[in-house]
Amino acid sequence: MLRIKNLHKAFDDFKAVDGAHLSVDKGQLVAVIGPNGAGKTTLFNLICGQLQPDKGQILLADEDIGKLPPHVICRKGIARSFQIANIFPRLSVFRNVQVSVLSQQKLSNKLFHPAAQLAVDETNHILDSVGLLDKKRDLAGSLSHGDKRILEIAIAMGNEPELLILDEPTAGMSPEETTTTMALIQRLAADQGLTILFCEHDMEVVFGVAQSIMVMQQGKTIVQDDPLTVRQNIEVQQAYLGDE
Ligand SMILES: Nc1ncnc2c1ncn2[C@@H]1O[C@H](COP(=O)(O)OP(=O)(O)OP(=O)(O)O)[C@@H](O)[C@H]1O
Ligand SMILES: [Mg+2]
Repeated sequence: MLRIKNLHKAFDDFKAVDGAHLSVDKGQLVAVIGPNGAGKTTLFNLICGQLQPDKGQILLADEDIGKLPPHVICRKGIARSFQIANIFPRLSVFRNVQVSVLSQQKLSNKLFHPAAQLAVDETNHILDSVGLLDKKRDLAGSLSHGDKRILEIAIAMGNEPELLILDEPTAGMSPEETTTTMALIQRLAADQGLTILFCEHDMEVVFGVAQSIMVMQQGKTIVQDDPLTVRQNIEVQQAYLGDE
């Protein structure tokens, strides 16, 4: 589904992504790991069009999407969450997701429909699938940190993505919230056939759920392989796992 070849991105003289390679197959749950500043978020920003690469290819199916703007990439079926939750805090949980469903369905131009009546079933369905249905009338800003992050996943689901990209989905969560969220992510992949690419610092989480792990250090891909092979990789142990 997604192939990244020899990707580079510099900010002035600083090479944030400096030879990244990644392969994501349809239906796979793929993790990107690496120390702080390794270039994970920059890589995700490049895939989603928030940044444009200096060099290299980002192939979605066989099309190079490297120079396309975010809204076009979104229409091609890639949706994401951000490292810091990105929600409308003064709207209800329901409205946050409904807005996303409506924009996907391009219904925002149906001016004579009161928006409240549109996409109700789809929105409820998404809220149900992430376990937020009973909180749909709550203000998004009043949710717990964990539920805000899950709401963000629900908003991304409103885009009906084929590839969901999650930047540290469990950052700042309690151990219980982390377990619930990772179970949710696994369920979305299994039940809805979603392809999911995520980055994460919690190694227990990563090695517990990922089917393939890509390791980055200083902007470079050291290796991408199945969890067992990655764990046994000497370079990875020295570069990253060793200092835990
Ligand atoms: N817009 C920018 N301008 C200048 N430098 C940047 C910019 N964005 C990121 N960087 C730098 O690029 C490097 C990689 O950052 P990035 O956020 O991609 O790392 P990361 O792997 O996501 O780290 P973390 O695990 O802390 O989230 C960092 O040194 C960062 O300071
Ligand atoms: Mg980051």
